[in-house]
Amino acid sequence: MGFEVKIVEVGPRDGLQNERHPLPVALKTRLVDDLAASGLREIEAVSFVSERAVPQMASSAEVMAGIERGAGVRHRALVPNARGMAAALEAKVDEIAVFASASQTFSHHNINCDIDESFARFAPVIEMARASGIPVRGYLSCAFGCPYEGAVSDDMVVATTARLLEAGCYEVAVSDTIGIGGAGDVRRLLASLLADVEREKIALHFHDTRGQALANVLAGLDAGIRCFDSSVGGLGGCPYAPGATGNLATEELVYLLESLGVATGVDLTLLATAGLRISSALGKPAGSRIAQALLASGALDANAIRGVEASSPSGNTVGLPEKQKTGVQS
Ligand code: HMG
Ligand code: MG
Repeated sequence: MGFEVKIVEVGPRDGLQNERHPLPVALKTRLVDDLAASGLREIEAVSFVSERAVPQMASSAEVMAGIERGAGVRHRALVPNARGMAAALEAKVDEIAVFASASQTFSHHNINCDIDESFARFAPVIEMARASGIPVRGYLSCAFGCPYEGAVSDDMVVATTARLLEAGCYEVAVSDTIGIGGAGDVRRLLASLLADVEREKIALHFHDTRGQALANVLAGLDAGIRCFDSSVGGLGGCPYAPGATGNLATEELVYLLESLGVATGVDLTLLATAGLRISSALGKPAGSRIAQALLASGALDANAIRGVEASSPSGNTVGLPEKQKTGVQS
């Protein structure tokens, strides 16, 4: 097919931020490096947010220090304020993202301020990024609905997207935080958005709570969107979006794109292995149906996930309580 699609892998950040038990740095760095080895080139590896708000991301500086850099991979970080930006600069991230919401109530729950105040906090972040030559992406949460307010108007989504771009973001990831939209909603919202905003400046970020994410990607592709976020193994959720489940699984996005003739450069077996390794370490079943199918057909060896134990100095798979260390289930 005559176009390229950019995949932004958000598993190490969006996928892991919801995990309650602290995960060893070695496991997180292994995940990021595995994803890079599978061929993914854009990886949101960490966030520099309040440790109290999201304890799992407390080790972000160590994670950034522990991963392999270079090799054409861009490692990104989520940043809420100037303090987070200072940490991101210290960690030498390749790109940052600020995050706003189309819902006032979600904004309060997520970052403890209203939408106007969130933009006031982004201003120094974007200034610092500009001074250091670091690209800034924007996320817009609750673009298809809010866990607290319910419906969110398309006008609000269009206006807040435009505001993020005016503030200095090169692209906005229009996000279905709670996975409530369907393909018809995507078509409708994009028709409004693309009347005001160039399509190159829009990415789509779907959570798969209701199993609509792949269909939504197809609706986005049809409308000319060429950048999608996803999370290996379908890991994910937001601590401030009750009931939101994982993101669109990267394995499923890659499979869809390849079936459409869009070369992704991703080795699906390596990617699925990375997903199995982290899912297993978290005591979760294989999170993508692609990995399940590869396991069932024998194309993937569940033993391949054992490598993480070798990389952990303690020999402890992830430092989770014994009862959580279950094997891969397919
Ligand atoms: P606040 O309470 O308004 O700010 O929180 P504060 O300045 O009063 O600071 C509160 C505490 O956080 C203080 O520590 C600060 O030192 C500390 P304490 O005195 O309580 O011990 N602090 C920081 N620590 C580390 N790094 C920092 C930082 N800033 C302050 N950068 C704040 C405001 C934004 C900091 C807080 O609410 C927060 O960190 N929220 C994070 C929320 C979050 O990460 N949510 C998940 C990511 S968003 C998402 O998943 C959606 C997305 O995937 C798209 C979609 O699906 O919709 C992107
Ligand atoms: Mg998300």
